[in-house]
Amino acid sequence: MSDTPSTAQLRCIEAQCATTYAASERLYACRRCGGLLEVAYDFRLPASVVEMKARFRARRTADAAIERSGVWRFRELLPFVSDPAQIVTLGEGNTPLYTAPRSAEYAGLQSLRLKHQGMNPTGSFKDNGMTTGVTQAVRLGATAVACASTGNTSASMAAYAARASLRALVFIPAGQVAYGKLSQALEYNASVIEIDGNFDDAMRIVREIAEETDIYLLNSINPFRLEGQKAIAIELLEQCDWQSPDWIVLPGGNLGNSSAFGKAIAELAALGFIARAPRLAIIQAEGASPFYELFASPDHTLFQPQAQPATLATAIRIGNPVSWKKALRAIEQTRGVVERVSEQEIADAKAVIGRDGIGCEPASAATLAGIKKLTAAGVIQATDNVAAVLTGNLLKDPTYTVAYHTDKLAMDSAGEPRAIRGSFANRPVRVAADKQQIKRLLKA
Ligand code: F0G
Repeated sequence: MSDTPSTAQLRCIEAQCATTYAASERLYACRRCGGLLEVAYDFRLPASVVEMKARFRARRTADAAIERSGVWRFRELLPFVSDPAQIVTLGEGNTPLYTAPRSAEYAGLQSLRLKHQGMNPTGSFKDNGMTTGVTQAVRLGATAVACASTGNTSASMAAYAARASLRALVFIPAGQVAYGKLSQALEYNASVIEIDGNFDDAMRIVREIAEETDIYLLNSINPFRLEGQKAIAIELLEQCDWQSPDWIVLPGGNLGNSSAFGKAIAELAALGFIARAPRLAIIQAEGASPFYELFASPDHTLFQPQAQPATLATAIRIGNPVSWKKALRAIEQTRGVVERVSEQEIADAKAVIGRDGIGCEPASAATLAGIKKLTAAGVIQATDNVAAVLTGNLLKDPTYTVAYHTDKLAMDSAGEPRAIRGSFANRPVRVAADKQQIKRLLKA
């Protein structure tokens, strides 16, 4: 307990460098060694851990948006904002943790819980990070923000930037963003720049532009984004009454979320909020799995980007994830694992999550497919307590879902379409507008 406030600074994650910078610096990488940066705190909690847990919970019933937000009600665990008037919020977080019996059975588990980040204001977990990222943009006096995106980041950034009256520039791979997401970025009035290339090309270009102009970069390389995403893990643990599950499972693309989870778990353990760390399992799509390759290699230092990532789970179609070093640290610290799953496995797992009445977008379903694989391999036990994060809403990518249920889902592989079976397809039935015919059909 302390009367003095916590302090925050930026710090290089490379152990032999660990250079620190003021939290007010507009920096995306260490000036000395080029390493990734993180927000490092000297935590001074104003009350005991027991009392803080009670405060976090009590704030959920508050009227004020800043109090109630599923990010800012944990603000003592991400204490980089001293003036609450600077906070930009859309009421993010406070997402449900569902039981999912059909999904559990499918994966070979006795029980499974799904934390649905698709229930956020713009329908994905990115809102947790954008409330902190855009708040930091306001604190720095930025007038324009930018990101590269496979869709959800752009939708979320566009919304939060609009709330804060900032100009939003989004760089997306042309033709590779699901319509739900593209429509959001357009509607929230972002300037949408479609690049002839993939996400990694867009990421490289926007990073260079942010270095050369005063446009503030809001990809997850920005450490303040990850501070908000920590709250997903914090809230999940709160919903488990601070008893860590054995496993937390999440999809991996650019690996910002995995990094944020690792940081949250390390800080919660150090501060005494949890007695035991959950293990992380990060799941990638087979066609975009450079982090899996790294994990599977004997030497965990040689990261090889993938030049042509390919998956219908477009959210995680990423070959050169910027945060791989932070994610690797998270895996090492939590005795975690990395798995990869096929297009067929993702598609079927998604339909099973739908049958639980929950639903999600393709990238999110990689979690259930990964759990099934890890359970079959004996890495996860049937009796383990497992929670998975569904990162995006079902409505983000309706094209994919309808194609699956009408047996039209196919993956283009080297110019050849490779069909994906609708193992759990729920085909619509077409009939004449005739009551008798329909009644006969319903009896069948
Ligand atoms: N799931 C969804 C629905 C996503 O949109 C993303 C990332 C991920 C998982 C992977 O998370 O990158 O933190 O490992 N989407 C980013 C975007 C890249 O631009 O919207 P990650």
